[in-house]
Amino acid sequence: MSNERSSFTGKIGFVLAAAGSAVGLGNIWRFPYLAAKYGGGIFLLTYLVLAVTFGFALMVTEIAIGRKTGQSAIGAYKKLSRKFSFVGWLAALIPAIILPYYSVIGGWVTKYLYTFLTGPSAAMEGGKAFFGAFVSQPLEPLFWFAVFIGITAIVVFLGVEKGVEKVSKIMMPILVFLSLGIAIYCMCLPGAWEGVLYYITPDFSKFSVELLLGAMGQLFYSMSLAMGIMITYGSYMKKDVSIEASVRQIEIFDTGIAFLAGLMIVPATFVFSGGGDINQGPGLMFGTLPQVFAGMPMGQAIGALFFLLVLFAALTSSISLMETVVSILQDKLGWKRPVSCIAVFLGALLLGVPSSLGNGAWSHIMPLGMGILDFFDFISNSVMMPVVALLTAIFVGYVLKPKTIIEEVELTAPFKSKTLYTVVIKYVAPVCILLILVSSVLSALGLITI
Ligand code: PHE
Repeated sequence: MSNERSSFTGKIGFVLAAAGSAVGLGNIWRFPYLAAKYGGGIFLLTYLVLAVTFGFALMVTEIAIGRKTGQSAIGAYKKLSRKFSFVGWLAALIPAIILPYYSVIGGWVTKYLYTFLTGPSAAMEGGKAFFGAFVSQPLEPLFWFAVFIGITAIVVFLGVEKGVEKVSKIMMPILVFLSLGIAIYCMCLPGAWEGVLYYITPDFSKFSVELLLGAMGQLFYSMSLAMGIMITYGSYMKKDVSIEASVRQIEIFDTGIAFLAGLMIVPATFVFSGGGDINQGPGLMFGTLPQVFAGMPMGQAIGALFFLLVLFAALTSSISLMETVVSILQDKLGWKRPVSCIAVFLGALLLGVPSSLGNGAWSHIMPLGMGILDFFDFISNSVMMPVVALLTAIFVGYVLKPKTIIEEVELTAPFKSKTLYTVVIKYVAPVCILLILVSSVLSALGLITI
Protein backbone atom coordinates (compact mmCIF):
# COMPACT_ATOMS: atom_id res chain seq x y z
CA MET A 1 0.00 0.00 0.00
CA SER A 2 1.34 3.42 -0.88
CA ASN A 3 0.17 5.16 2.28
CA GLU A 4 1.95 4.60 5.52
CA ARG A 5 -0.55 3.79 8.25
CA SER A 6 -1.28 6.60 10.67
CA SER A 7 -1.65 6.01 14.38
CA PHE A 8 -2.93 7.56 17.56
CA THR A 9 -0.12 9.11 19.55
CA GLY A 10 -0.78 7.08 22.70
CA LYS A 11 -3.28 5.60 25.05
CA ILE A 12 -5.20 8.77 25.89
CA GLY A 13 -5.65 9.64 22.25
CA PHE A 14 -6.90 6.16 21.45
CA VAL A 15 -9.25 5.92 24.42
CA LEU A 16 -10.75 9.36 23.84
CA ALA A 17 -11.29 8.74 20.13
CA ALA A 18 -12.87 5.34 20.71
CA ALA A 19 -14.98 6.72 23.55
CA GLY A 20 -15.94 9.57 21.23
CA SER A 21 -17.26 7.04 18.78
CA ALA A 22 -19.12 5.14 21.47
CA VAL A 23 -20.66 8.16 23.19
CA GLY A 24 -23.26 9.49 20.79
CA LEU A 25 -26.92 10.16 20.23
CA GLY A 26 -27.57 6.65 21.55
CA ASN A 27 -26.28 7.55 25.00
CA ILE A 28 -28.00 10.84 25.38
CA TRP A 29 -31.34 10.24 23.83
CA ARG A 30 -31.91 6.49 23.55
CA PHE A 31 -30.48 5.19 26.81
CA PRO A 32 -32.53 7.40 29.17
CA TYR A 33 -35.74 6.63 27.38
CA LEU A 34 -35.09 2.88 27.40
CA ALA A 35 -34.18 3.04 31.09
CA ALA A 36 -37.40 4.87 31.87
CA LYS A 37 -39.44 2.52 29.73
CA TYR A 38 -38.06 -0.60 31.37
CA GLY A 39 -38.48 0.50 34.95
CA GLY A 40 -35.31 2.44 35.80
CA GLY A 41 -32.78 0.80 38.12
CA ILE A 42 -33.26 -2.76 36.96
CA PHE A 43 -32.46 -1.73 33.41
CA LEU A 44 -29.32 0.06 34.58
CA LEU A 45 -28.17 -3.00 36.46
CA THR A 46 -28.79 -5.37 33.55
CA TYR A 47 -27.03 -3.03 31.17
CA LEU A 48 -24.02 -2.79 33.45
CA VAL A 49 -23.66 -6.56 33.77
CA LEU A 50 -23.91 -6.96 29.99
CA ALA A 51 -21.42 -4.17 29.35
CA VAL A 52 -18.66 -5.67 31.49
CA THR A 53 -19.08 -9.17 30.04
CA PHE A 54 -20.60 -9.26 26.59
CA GLY A 55 -19.70 -5.74 25.44
CA PHE A 56 -16.22 -6.12 26.87
CA ALA A 57 -15.51 -9.36 24.99
CA LEU A 58 -16.74 -8.06 21.64
CA MET A 59 -14.85 -4.80 21.92
CA VAL A 60 -11.61 -6.52 22.88
CA THR A 61 -12.06 -8.82 19.89
CA GLU A 62 -12.52 -6.03 17.37
CA ILE A 63 -9.69 -3.88 18.63
CA ALA A 64 -7.33 -6.86 18.75
CA ILE A 65 -8.27 -7.89 15.20
CA GLY A 66 -7.54 -4.36 14.00
CA ARG A 67 -4.24 -4.07 15.81
CA LYS A 68 -3.08 -7.54 14.83
CA THR A 69 -3.75 -7.10 11.13
CA GLY A 70 -3.10 -3.37 10.85
CA GLN A 71 -6.02 -3.17 8.45
CA SER A 72 -9.57 -1.89 8.36
CA ALA A 73 -12.44 -4.40 8.36
CA ILE A 74 -12.23 -5.81 4.83
CA GLY A 75 -8.47 -6.30 4.78
CA ALA A 76 -8.47 -7.52 8.36
CA TYR A 77 -10.87 -10.41 7.83
CA LYS A 78 -9.22 -11.31 4.56
CA LYS A 79 -5.84 -11.49 6.23
CA LEU A 80 -7.18 -13.78 8.95
CA SER A 81 -9.20 -16.11 6.73
CA ARG A 82 -10.11 -16.04 3.06
CA LYS A 83 -13.33 -17.90 3.79
CA PHE A 84 -14.55 -15.28 6.23
CA SER A 85 -13.52 -12.25 4.22
CA PHE A 86 -17.18 -11.61 3.37
CA VAL A 87 -17.72 -10.67 7.03
CA GLY A 88 -15.35 -7.76 6.48
CA TRP A 89 -17.36 -6.61 3.48
CA LEU A 90 -20.58 -6.81 5.43
CA ALA A 91 -19.10 -4.93 8.38
CA ALA A 92 -17.76 -2.26 6.04
CA LEU A 93 -21.16 -1.65 4.51
CA ILE A 94 -22.71 -0.77 7.87
CA PRO A 95 -20.94 2.55 8.54
CA ALA A 96 -21.56 3.51 4.93
CA ILE A 97 -25.30 3.05 5.53
CA ILE A 98 -25.34 4.69 8.96
CA LEU A 99 -23.22 7.77 8.20
CA PRO A 100 -25.76 9.52 5.93
CA TYR A 101 -28.80 9.17 8.17
CA TYR A 102 -26.85 9.71 11.40
CA SER A 103 -25.67 12.99 9.88
CA VAL A 104 -29.25 13.97 9.04
CA ILE A 105 -30.03 13.73 12.76
CA GLY A 106 -26.73 15.50 13.49
CA GLY A 107 -28.04 18.30 11.28
CA TRP A 108 -31.18 18.60 13.43
CA VAL A 109 -28.98 18.88 16.52
CA THR A 110 -26.94 21.63 14.84
CA LYS A 111 -30.12 23.52 13.99
CA TYR A 112 -31.36 23.23 17.57
CA LEU A 113 -28.09 24.52 18.98
CA TYR A 114 -28.30 27.46 16.59
CA THR A 115 -31.91 28.16 17.57
CA PHE A 116 -31.10 28.11 21.27
CA LEU A 117 -28.08 30.34 20.79
CA THR A 118 -29.85 32.99 18.77
CA GLY A 119 -32.58 34.24 20.99
CA PRO A 120 -35.63 33.10 22.91
CA SER A 121 -36.06 29.78 21.29
CA ALA A 122 -39.07 29.10 19.11
CA ALA A 123 -38.30 25.44 19.79
CA MET A 124 -39.00 26.02 23.46
CA GLU A 125 -42.49 27.29 22.86
CA GLY A 126 -43.35 25.16 19.87
CA GLY A 127 -42.21 21.78 21.20
CA LYS A 128 -43.32 18.93 19.01
CA ALA A 129 -45.14 21.18 16.56
CA PHE A 130 -41.95 23.17 15.95
CA PHE A 131 -39.97 19.98 15.42
CA GLY A 132 -42.56 18.56 13.04
CA ALA A 133 -42.67 21.74 11.00
CA PHE A 134 -38.88 21.92 10.81
CA VAL A 135 -38.14 18.34 9.69
CA SER A 136 -40.87 18.29 7.10
CA GLN A 137 -39.48 21.22 5.14
CA PRO A 138 -37.51 20.26 2.05
CA LEU A 139 -34.52 22.59 2.20
CA GLU A 140 -33.67 23.72 5.70
CA PRO A 141 -32.93 20.27 7.17
CA LEU A 142 -30.77 19.54 4.11
CA PHE A 143 -28.79 22.69 4.76
CA TRP A 144 -28.06 21.71 8.39
CA PHE A 145 -27.29 18.16 7.33
CA ALA A 146 -24.69 19.53 4.90
CA VAL A 147 -23.19 21.72 7.63
CA PHE A 148 -22.90 18.78 10.01
CA ILE A 149 -21.37 16.39 7.51
CA GLY A 150 -19.10 19.19 6.25
CA ILE A 151 -17.62 19.62 9.75
CA THR A 152 -17.20 15.85 10.02
CA ALA A 153 -15.40 15.74 6.68
CA ILE A 154 -12.99 18.53 7.62
CA VAL A 155 -11.91 16.67 10.76
CA VAL A 156 -11.43 13.38 8.92
CA PHE A 157 -9.57 15.22 6.15
CA LEU A 158 -7.05 16.45 8.72
CA GLY A 159 -6.10 12.88 9.55
CA VAL A 160 -5.99 10.48 12.47
CA GLU A 161 -3.60 12.41 14.66
CA LYS A 162 -4.29 16.02 13.71
CA GLY A 163 -8.03 15.57 13.15
CA VAL A 164 -9.71 12.65 14.90
CA GLU A 165 -7.43 12.49 17.94
CA LYS A 166 -7.13 16.23 18.43
CA VAL A 167 -10.85 16.90 18.19
CA SER A 168 -11.61 14.02 20.58
CA LYS A 169 -9.11 15.39 23.08
CA ILE A 170 -10.90 18.73 23.05
CA MET A 171 -14.51 17.63 22.80
CA MET A 172 -14.59 14.66 25.16
CA PRO A 173 -13.46 16.48 28.33
CA ILE A 174 -15.92 19.31 27.60
CA LEU A 175 -18.61 16.71 27.08
CA VAL A 176 -17.95 15.13 30.49
CA PHE A 177 -17.96 18.51 32.15
CA LEU A 178 -21.23 19.58 30.49
CA SER A 179 -22.89 16.25 31.35
CA LEU A 180 -21.95 16.55 35.01
CA GLY A 181 -23.02 20.18 35.20
CA ILE A 182 -26.39 19.75 33.53
CA ALA A 183 -27.15 16.55 35.46
CA ILE A 184 -26.44 18.26 38.80
CA TYR A 185 -28.54 21.24 37.78
CA CYS A 186 -31.47 19.02 36.81
CA MET A 187 -31.25 16.99 40.01
CA CYS A 188 -31.47 20.16 42.07
CA LEU A 189 -34.76 21.25 40.51
CA PRO A 190 -37.62 21.14 42.99
CA GLY A 191 -39.46 17.83 42.70
CA ALA A 192 -36.68 16.15 40.72
CA TRP A 193 -35.84 13.66 43.42
CA GLU A 194 -38.84 11.49 42.70
CA GLY A 195 -37.59 11.04 39.14
CA VAL A 196 -34.04 10.35 40.33
CA LEU A 197 -35.31 7.62 42.65
CA TYR A 198 -37.40 6.08 39.89
CA TYR A 199 -34.36 6.10 37.64
CA ILE A 200 -31.92 4.47 40.03
CA THR A 201 -33.93 2.14 42.28
CA PRO A 202 -33.99 -1.40 40.89
CA ASP A 203 -37.40 -3.04 40.99
CA PHE A 204 -36.56 -6.69 40.40
CA SER A 205 -40.12 -7.63 39.60
CA LYS A 206 -39.81 -5.61 36.40
CA PHE A 207 -37.10 -7.80 34.95
CA SER A 208 -38.23 -9.36 31.67
CA VAL A 209 -36.92 -10.91 28.48
CA GLU A 210 -37.87 -7.73 26.62
CA LEU A 211 -35.75 -5.73 29.01
CA LEU A 212 -32.79 -8.02 28.43
CA LEU A 213 -33.12 -7.78 24.67
CA GLY A 214 -33.59 -4.04 24.80
CA ALA A 215 -30.45 -3.68 26.93
CA MET A 216 -28.43 -5.90 24.61
CA GLY A 217 -29.49 -4.07 21.48
CA GLN A 218 -28.64 -0.75 23.10
CA LEU A 219 -25.24 -2.04 24.20
CA PHE A 220 -24.24 -2.94 20.67
CA TYR A 221 -25.25 0.32 19.21
CA SER A 222 -23.82 2.32 22.05
CA MET A 223 -20.40 0.69 22.00
CA SER A 224 -20.18 1.08 18.19
CA LEU A 225 -19.65 -2.67 17.82
CA ALA A 226 -20.00 -4.89 14.77
CA MET A 227 -19.48 -2.24 12.14
CA GLY A 228 -15.76 -2.24 11.66
CA ILE A 229 -15.19 0.96 13.62
CA MET A 230 -13.25 -0.61 16.45
CA ILE A 231 -11.26 -2.69 13.96
CA THR A 232 -10.21 0.49 12.18
CA TYR A 233 -9.37 2.30 15.42
CA GLY A 234 -7.53 -0.80 16.64
CA SER A 235 -5.43 -0.70 13.49
CA TYR A 236 -4.23 2.77 14.50
CA MET A 237 -3.27 1.57 17.97
CA LYS A 238 0.32 1.10 19.00
CA LYS A 239 1.48 -2.23 20.38
CA ASP A 240 2.52 -0.76 23.71
CA VAL A 241 -1.00 0.39 24.62
CA SER A 242 -2.98 -2.11 26.71
CA ILE A 243 -6.12 -3.29 24.95
CA GLU A 244 -7.79 -4.59 28.10
CA ALA A 245 -7.26 -1.44 30.14
CA SER A 246 -8.35 0.76 27.22
CA VAL A 247 -11.58 -1.18 26.74
CA ARG A 248 -12.38 -0.87 30.45
CA GLN A 249 -11.91 2.87 30.21
CA ILE A 250 -14.00 3.22 27.07
CA GLU A 251 -16.77 1.30 28.83
CA ILE A 252 -16.65 3.57 31.86
CA PHE A 253 -16.92 6.58 29.57
CA ASP A 254 -19.75 5.18 27.53
CA THR A 255 -21.85 3.90 30.42
CA GLY A 256 -21.04 6.90 32.60
CA ILE A 257 -22.27 9.43 30.04
CA ALA A 258 -25.40 7.38 29.36
CA PHE A 259 -26.10 7.24 33.09
CA LEU A 260 -25.61 11.00 33.45
CA ALA A 261 -27.87 11.65 30.46
CA GLY A 262 -30.57 9.76 32.31
CA LEU A 263 -30.01 11.91 35.36
CA MET A 264 -30.60 14.99 33.21
CA ILE A 265 -33.56 13.79 31.26
CA VAL A 266 -35.61 11.49 33.49
CA PRO A 267 -36.00 13.82 36.52
CA ALA A 268 -36.48 16.90 34.33
CA THR A 269 -39.20 15.21 32.34
CA PHE A 270 -40.82 14.06 35.59
CA VAL A 271 -40.88 17.59 36.96
CA PHE A 272 -42.16 19.35 33.88
CA SER A 273 -44.41 16.87 32.19
CA GLY A 274 -45.21 14.29 34.82
CA GLY A 275 -43.00 11.66 33.17
CA GLY A 276 -45.64 10.55 30.68
CA ASP A 277 -43.68 11.82 27.68
CA ILE A 278 -40.54 9.89 28.44
CA ASN A 279 -41.65 6.94 26.35
CA GLN A 280 -42.06 8.64 23.07
CA GLY A 281 -38.77 7.95 21.32
CA PRO A 282 -37.20 10.54 19.01
CA GLY A 283 -39.83 13.16 19.83
CA LEU A 284 -38.39 13.28 23.33
CA MET A 285 -35.17 15.07 22.53
CA PHE A 286 -36.45 17.47 19.90
CA GLY A 287 -40.05 17.87 20.98
CA THR A 288 -40.49 17.45 24.71
CA LEU A 289 -37.09 18.50 26.07
CA PRO A 290 -37.13 22.02 24.61
CA GLN A 291 -40.46 22.53 26.36
CA VAL A 292 -38.96 21.15 29.55
CA PHE A 293 -36.18 23.75 29.20
CA ALA A 294 -38.81 26.45 28.72
CA GLY A 295 -40.16 25.70 32.19
CA MET A 296 -36.75 25.87 33.91
CA PRO A 297 -34.99 28.86 35.31
CA MET A 298 -32.26 29.82 32.78
CA GLY A 299 -33.88 27.42 30.36
CA GLN A 300 -32.47 28.92 27.20
CA ALA A 301 -28.88 28.74 28.45
CA ILE A 302 -29.34 25.20 29.73
CA GLY A 303 -30.91 24.23 26.42
CA ALA A 304 -28.00 25.70 24.47
CA LEU A 305 -25.47 23.85 26.64
CA PHE A 306 -27.46 20.66 26.32
CA PHE A 307 -27.50 20.81 22.52
CA LEU A 308 -23.80 21.68 22.48
CA LEU A 309 -23.23 18.50 24.45
CA VAL A 310 -25.36 16.49 22.05
CA LEU A 311 -23.58 18.04 19.07
CA PHE A 312 -20.15 17.05 20.40
CA ALA A 313 -21.38 13.55 21.11
CA ALA A 314 -22.87 13.21 17.62
CA LEU A 315 -19.82 14.71 15.89
CA THR A 316 -17.26 12.39 17.47
CA SER A 317 -19.49 9.47 16.43
CA SER A 318 -19.98 10.62 12.86
CA ILE A 319 -16.24 11.23 12.63
CA SER A 320 -15.64 7.59 13.54
CA LEU A 321 -18.14 6.47 10.91
CA MET A 322 -16.55 8.56 8.18
CA GLU A 323 -13.01 7.65 9.25
CA THR A 324 -13.94 3.98 8.96
CA VAL A 325 -15.27 4.34 5.42
CA VAL A 326 -12.35 6.55 4.36
CA SER A 327 -9.84 4.10 5.76
CA ILE A 328 -11.48 1.25 3.88
CA LEU A 329 -11.19 3.16 0.60
CA GLN A 330 -7.58 3.95 1.37
CA ASP A 331 -6.77 0.33 2.19
CA LYS A 332 -8.76 -1.24 -0.63
CA LEU A 333 -8.21 1.17 -3.49
CA GLY A 334 -4.94 2.72 -2.42
CA TRP A 335 -6.50 6.19 -2.62
CA LYS A 336 -4.91 9.04 -0.71
CA ARG A 337 -6.79 10.45 2.28
CA PRO A 338 -7.98 13.70 0.63
CA VAL A 339 -9.45 11.86 -2.36
CA SER A 340 -11.16 9.23 -0.18
CA CYS A 341 -12.46 11.92 2.07
CA ILE A 342 -14.02 13.97 -0.73
CA ALA A 343 -15.55 10.84 -2.25
CA VAL A 344 -17.10 9.77 1.05
CA PHE A 345 -18.33 13.29 1.78
CA LEU A 346 -20.08 13.55 -1.59
CA GLY A 347 -21.43 10.02 -1.43
CA ALA A 348 -22.86 10.49 2.05
CA LEU A 349 -24.33 13.84 1.07
CA LEU A 350 -26.20 12.18 -1.75
CA LEU A 351 -27.32 9.16 0.25
CA GLY A 352 -28.56 11.31 3.12
CA VAL A 353 -31.03 13.23 0.96
CA PRO A 354 -33.74 10.52 0.98
CA SER A 355 -33.48 10.15 4.78
CA SER A 356 -33.96 13.87 5.16
CA LEU A 357 -36.79 14.23 2.65
CA GLY A 358 -38.47 11.14 4.12
CA ASN A 359 -39.81 13.32 6.91
CA GLY A 360 -41.62 15.63 4.52
CA ALA A 361 -41.80 15.62 0.75
CA TRP A 362 -41.06 11.90 0.48
CA SER A 363 -43.00 10.72 3.51
CA HIS A 364 -45.21 8.57 1.31
CA ILE A 365 -42.23 6.30 0.58
CA MET A 366 -42.37 3.69 3.32
CA PRO A 367 -40.09 0.67 2.82
CA LEU A 368 -41.29 -2.18 5.10
CA GLY A 369 -43.88 0.25 6.41
CA MET A 370 -41.24 2.52 7.98
CA GLY A 371 -40.04 6.04 7.24
CA ILE A 372 -36.87 6.12 5.10
CA LEU A 373 -34.59 7.09 7.99
CA ASP A 374 -36.08 4.43 10.26
CA PHE A 375 -35.68 1.89 7.51
CA PHE A 376 -31.92 2.51 7.20
CA ASP A 377 -31.67 2.45 10.98
CA PHE A 378 -33.50 -0.86 11.12
CA ILE A 379 -31.48 -2.56 8.37
CA SER A 380 -28.14 -1.51 9.81
CA ASN A 381 -28.75 -1.80 13.55
CA SER A 382 -31.30 -4.53 13.89
CA VAL A 383 -30.34 -6.80 11.02
CA MET A 384 -26.80 -6.29 9.77
CA MET A 385 -25.06 -5.57 13.07
CA PRO A 386 -26.29 -8.68 14.86
CA VAL A 387 -25.40 -10.75 11.78
CA VAL A 388 -21.86 -9.38 11.72
CA ALA A 389 -21.50 -9.79 15.48
CA LEU A 390 -22.72 -13.36 15.31
CA LEU A 391 -20.33 -14.23 12.49
CA THR A 392 -17.48 -12.52 14.35
CA ALA A 393 -18.16 -14.49 17.53
CA ILE A 394 -18.37 -17.78 15.63
CA PHE A 395 -15.27 -16.97 13.63
CA VAL A 396 -13.20 -16.00 16.66
CA GLY A 397 -14.63 -18.71 18.93
CA TYR A 398 -14.29 -21.65 16.56
CA VAL A 399 -12.14 -20.85 13.53
CA LEU A 400 -9.50 -18.38 14.60
CA LYS A 401 -9.76 -19.50 18.25
CA PRO A 402 -9.80 -17.13 21.25
CA LYS A 403 -6.11 -17.90 21.76
CA THR A 404 -5.16 -15.69 18.81
CA ILE A 405 -6.94 -12.69 20.31
CA ILE A 406 -5.56 -13.43 23.77
CA GLU A 407 -2.03 -13.50 22.37
CA GLU A 408 -2.53 -10.13 20.74
CA VAL A 409 -3.84 -8.66 24.00
CA GLU A 410 -0.95 -10.15 25.95
CA LEU A 411 1.65 -8.50 23.73
CA THR A 412 1.29 -5.56 26.10
CA ALA A 413 0.17 -6.91 29.47
CA PRO A 414 -1.29 -10.08 31.01
CA PHE A 415 -4.97 -10.48 30.04
CA LYS A 416 -6.72 -10.50 33.41
CA SER A 417 -10.18 -11.46 32.19
CA LYS A 418 -8.93 -14.20 29.89
CA THR A 419 -11.30 -16.92 31.10
CA LEU A 420 -14.31 -14.65 31.11
CA TYR A 421 -13.36 -13.60 27.60
CA THR A 422 -13.17 -17.14 26.28
CA VAL A 423 -16.47 -18.23 27.82
CA VAL A 424 -18.31 -15.16 26.56
CA ILE A 425 -17.00 -15.26 23.03
CA LYS A 426 -17.52 -19.01 22.56
CA TYR A 427 -20.80 -19.63 24.32
CA VAL A 428 -22.60 -16.56 25.66
CA ALA A 429 -22.17 -14.19 22.72
CA PRO A 430 -23.46 -16.42 19.91
CA VAL A 431 -26.61 -17.33 21.85
CA CYS A 432 -27.33 -13.78 22.98
CA ILE A 433 -26.77 -12.31 19.55
CA LEU A 434 -29.01 -14.83 17.90
CA LEU A 435 -31.73 -13.84 20.37
CA ILE A 436 -31.34 -10.15 19.54
CA LEU A 437 -31.47 -10.83 15.84
CA VAL A 438 -34.59 -12.95 15.95
CA SER A 439 -36.38 -10.68 18.36
CA SER A 440 -35.63 -7.47 16.51
CA VAL A 441 -36.81 -8.90 13.23
CA LEU A 442 -39.98 -10.26 14.83
CA SER A 443 -40.68 -6.97 16.54
CA ALA A 444 -40.17 -5.01 13.32
CA LEU A 445 -42.66 -7.27 11.63
CA GLY A 446 -45.07 -6.52 14.45
CA LEU A 447 -45.12 -10.09 15.77
CA ILE A 448 -43.81 -9.22 19.24
CA THR A 449 -43.30 -5.95 21.09
CA ILE A 450 -40.03 -4.95 22.70
N1 PHE B 1 -22.30 4.60 19.52
C1 PHE B 1 -23.03 5.70 19.00
C2 PHE B 1 -24.11 6.17 19.94
O1 PHE B 1 -24.25 5.72 21.02
C3 PHE B 1 -23.74 5.36 17.78
C4 PHE B 1 -22.92 5.11 16.63
C5 PHE B 1 -23.44 4.34 15.74
C6 PHE B 1 -21.70 5.64 16.46
C7 PHE B 1 -22.76 4.09 14.67
C8 PHE B 1 -20.99 5.40 15.39
C9 PHE B 1 -21.54 4.60 14.52
O2 PHE B 1 -24.83 7.03 19.55
